[in-house]
Amino acid sequence: MQIKSAAFVISNTDVIKCPHHNQPEYAFIGRSNVGKSSLINSLLQHKGLAKTSSTPGKTQLINHFLINDFWYLVDLPGYGYARVSKTKKKQFQSVITHYFEKRKQLYCSFILIDIRHKPQPIDINFMKWVGQKQIPFAIVFTKADKLKPNLLDQHVKDYEKALLEDVWESLPPIFVTSATKKTGCDLLLKHLSDLNQEFKKLNSSA
Ligand code: GTP
Ligand code: MG
Repeated sequence: MQIKSAAFVISNTDVIKCPHHNQPEYAFIGRSNVGKSSLINSLLQHKGLAKTSSTPGKTQLINHFLINDFWYLVDLPGYGYARVSKTKKKQFQSVITHYFEKRKQLYCSFILIDIRHKPQPIDINFMKWVGQKQIPFAIVFTKADKLKPNLLDQHVKDYEKALLEDVWESLPPIFVTSATKKTGCDLLLKHLSDLNQEFKKLNSSA
């Protein structure tokens, strides 16, 4: 998919105030500092559109971006980083929970995982929670440039094994990306394009 236009629309603390639209919306979620905002910028080929920082807790609001005048990408605050204060963590948690529980336009979520780490309960539990809410999700590994190729494959395989040994009968779509090297961006955009097509089909026959 070609990015013809990408624009910041609005930031909100409350899901109720988010834009009213009938288009597909996709949310990027994951631990603070996992690289959500960086990957959004790489996908949209727009440095600085989403605010990034090496200090966890940079994204504090629900940020909507409109792409190609049709679909929306949402950059959310991160969950569960040890160096983020307890108050902030609670505040982010409530923003995230309300967004996922109430946002009808959310068509698919993308759960970002730092590829360097072993499966963490906080991410697995989040996947389970989203699964219970019947919100489709894909897994996006980030920071692939930080691992050697053979280790990359091993980490993905270990993760898949852990998911299958847990409650999952099948695996969600999985992408391996690097925002710095732009690895995996084409495949991720292709997936988003497929989801948009699916959305259009479903809504034209409704
Ligand atoms: P919060 O908004 O704080 O939750 O963080 P975030 O998940 O949006 O992460 P952000 O995009 O701000 O990136 C966090 C840090 O990781 C920054 O220092 C980025 O430069 C770095 N980073 C993000 N993606 C990559 C990547 O693909 N490779 C490398 N090497 N660094 C990355
Ligand atoms: Mg961010």
